[in-house]
Amino acid sequence: MQRTLAIIKPDAVQRRLIGKIISRFEEKGLEIIGLKMTVIPNDLAKKNYSVHEGKDYFEKLVRFMTSGPVVVLVLRGKNAIGVVRKLMGSTSGHEADPGTIRGDYAISGRFNLIHGSDSVESAEREIPIFFDDSSIIESEKSDLKWIYDMSDDLTGENLI
Ligand code: PPS
Repeated sequence: MQRTLAIIKPDAVQRRLIGKIISRFEEKGLEIIGLKMTVIPNDLAKKNYSVHEGKDYFEKLVRFMTSGPVVVLVLRGKNAIGVVRKLMGSTSGHEADPGTIRGDYAISGRFNLIHGSDSVESAEREIPIFFDDSSIIESEKSDLKWIYDMSDDLTGENLI
């Protein structure tokens, strides 16, 4: 199963949208295997967004992401990276489709509520920036057999 990193950004925390955003992930069937509230230090924000270094918005993005508390999550599920990106919606709130998190709750191009890893490589790079292995908890969830058809593979390796 795939893992991805999501960050509920400072605007979402200030606007009391933490619960609504987490509900979207849970209701979809994703598992939360890591969760914490933190104020991201400058160096970690720069590290997380290092691929965007040099872009004209880089400093503003780092300032925004360090401007207040965020909630950082590790989510697990089949195609979790793509699923989270679809639930988020496109980058700008005013362009994101209704039904997505950004489409329903954001209108700004910059204050867009949520970050999600955009590839397997990004997820593998981003997760350890915020979580060490001991703070990720992969317990056996009893409802998994009703979220996926596991009849072909009880190990959970090949969920359908
Ligand atoms: S995305 O979501 O990664 O596909 O979006 P992308 O367009 O590649 O943008 C990468 C991250 O930069 C943020 N961004 C900006 N921040 C401030 N100002 C401007 N103009 C701007 N343009 C893009 C965008 O929200 C992405 O951040 P995350 O946290 O990944 O959503």
